[in-house]
Amino acid sequence: MIMKISLNLPLSLLLLSTFLLSFPSPSYQQHPHTFSNPRLKKAYIALQAWKKSITDDPNNFTRNWEGYNVCNYNGVFCAPSLDNSYVQTVAGIDLNHANIAGSLPKKLGLLTDLALFHINSNRFCGSFPYTLKNWCLLYELDVSNNYFNGGFPKVLLSLPSLKFIDIRYNYFNGPIPSKLFDLKLDAIFINNNNFTSKFPQNIGNSPVSVVVLANNNFQGCLPNSISKMSKTLNEFILEGAGLKGCLPSGIGKLTQLTVLDVSYNELSGPLPDSIGKMKNLEQLNVAFNSFSGEIPASICRLPKLENFTYSYNFFSHAPYECLKLKSKDDIFNCIPNRPSQRSHSACTSFNAYPISCESFGCYY
Ligand SMILES: *[C@@H]1O[C@H](CO)[C@@H](O)[C@H](O)[C@H]1NC(C)=O
Ligand SMILES: *[C@@H]1O[C@H](CO)[C@@H](O)[C@H](O)[C@H]1NC(C)=O
Ligand SMILES: *[C@@H]1O[C@H](CO)[C@@H](O)[C@H](O)[C@H]1NC(C)=O
Repeated sequence: MIMKISLNLPLSLLLLSTFLLSFPSPSYQQHPHTFSNPRLKKAYIALQAWKKSITDDPNNFTRNWEGYNVCNYNGVFCAPSLDNSYVQTVAGIDLNHANIAGSLPKKLGLLTDLALFHINSNRFCGSFPYTLKNWCLLYELDVSNNYFNGGFPKVLLSLPSLKFIDIRYNYFNGPIPSKLFDLKLDAIFINNNNFTSKFPQNIGNSPVSVVVLANNNFQGCLPNSISKMSKTLNEFILEGAGLKGCLPSGIGKLTQLTVLDVSYNELSGPLPDSIGKMKNLEQLNVAFNSFSGEIPASICRLPKLENFTYSYNFFSHAPYECLKLKSKDDIFNCIPNRPSQRSHSACTSFNAYPISCESFGCYY
């Protein structure tokens, strides 16, 4: 699932980069003897400070980061400024896959015209300087697959233009600020960090189309208020997120959702009937939990369902509609007459303790 998204997301990146590249620096700027405007001078100061912070650049990616013409630096993209089309500014940084080791110096805050900041798959570490609060035009941030650590980078919460936050595969820890879900974002990728704390109860306020919280250490239940995301949410990935309790029935309101992955959590109780109303669902993965009871036939009748994975639970019955699905995985349950199920004694002892969804103390 996570792979699927990582292939989808760069679409916006592509569009934006194409936009940026369609404004090549005018030729008279190729060998300027000074800065063509004060903003490029500020960008020069920022980029030189950044270059100084780099401790290893094995592919010599920044070797040409010298001289006045910052628009010619590898990975630096200029475009006419939004407020004055005659003024070139640094609008994009793309150091993806450069394998550079370093950190983000305070002076990076001087890049006030930045719309796109992509440094995925490098070895940047440390935290985000507070000066990045000046990135008022920043639209898309991808710092995934680096060594950033410390608490959630709160400076991002103050950026008024930000739409895409991708900080996955880092070493961030501690709580997620609830304000993240009150922002007008399009996508949130914070998976594969070490975020802890209670599961954010205001997640339903978020207008995102994609949210990936997988592989963190959250505690607690999925709030019923996720139903508020019904008009916008398209992919919801909660694999290994630390969820407990039962799935709230409000989940069925997410009728735009195409991918739901709650695998590898500690969820229990039945699958809510309401999931059978999620008419756009294509991929459903509930494997490696402690769900039980009967699988509602309405789920398996969903018109677009391509793949339903419900292995490694304690389901006691799967209707004919589910057995008919082309792509499904039902092993390690308690379903009679199906291959590779749990032992009779494992199923009996699980059923000796009835699940009470109320007992988890979640407000549904
Ligand atoms: C990078 O530059 C150094 C010094 O000029 C050189 O020895 C090395 O081979 C270069 N590495 C690559 C990958 O081009
Ligand atoms: C994640 O945080 C927990 C609790 O703070 C800690 O015990 C664990 O070592 C951390 N894991 C990683 C990979 O940093
Ligand atoms: C169905 O989904 C599961 C879990 O995400 C995945 O492992 C499996 O490869 C998928 N099957 C097909 C045929 O796409």
